[in-house]
Amino acid sequence: MNLKLKIWRQKNAREAGKMVDYNISNVSPDMSFLEMLDVLNEELNNKGEDPVAFDHDCREGICGMCSLFINGEAHGPDRGVTTCQLHMRKFKDGDTIYIEPFRAKAFPVIKDLVVDRSSFDRIQQAGGFISVNTSGNTIDANAIPIKKHDADRSFDAATCIGCGACVASCKNASAMLFVSAKVSQFALLPQGKVEAHERVLNMVKKMDEEGFGNCTNTGACEVECPKGISLENIARMNREYLFASVKS
Ligand code: SF4
Ligand code: FES
Repeated sequence: MNLKLKIWRQKNAREAGKMVDYNISNVSPDMSFLEMLDVLNEELNNKGEDPVAFDHDCREGICGMCSLFINGEAHGPDRGVTTCQLHMRKFKDGDTIYIEPFRAKAFPVIKDLVVDRSSFDRIQQAGGFISVNTSGNTIDANAIPIKKHDADRSFDAATCIGCGACVASCKNASAMLFVSAKVSQFALLPQGKVEAHERVLNMVKKMDEEGFGNCTNTGACEVECPKGISLENIARMNREYLFASVKS
């Protein structure tokens, strides 16, 4: 396949960026999207030009690093996949592909397609954990009975990989889907009950401090989420937040 790429190039956080055109030929439909960018970067390197900076790590849909906005959609036109799992067979010969970084005030661009998502780390640090007594009397986690329905819902929430596609897809740049997944993961389990009130209050406070927008129930986040995180987590977080606010 021969393709025209329009890629956001930005030297650093201070300088303005712009879309730059590149032509790429002999792209195999079996390549992943990131492999296609690897080929482009090899060509740029060979010409002595600055390669395109983009984030990646596992390249198998686990780490949440690959954060590209492709033709106006977070992680591109496929559903339930990350950018690294997107294949070039989803495009046609002669297509023009727009490639931009995830855009949100709380995700400032570092270079080209790489954004700083450490705001997510700070939200996690504000409450995305449980405390366990390790004095020698710790109960084995498997010895605590948990209803199958709750265990399944908790596991579903825990599949959030923190990629930020929900934020990039939201017209308000809201992080509610991400934060609600992290809150729900613990709220559904007995191990998460001890710090439940502080957790939801602290994580929502940090989310607001980091500059994420409010949720207006549009649902774009759920559509673009590569892990199928459900909006029902946002409803659960709102209930948890209300309860914790009344209790505190
Ligand atoms: S909720 Fe989905 S889109 Fe948002 S960070 Fe988690 S996995 Fe990514
Ligand atoms: S590189 Fe890890 S999820 Fe894409």
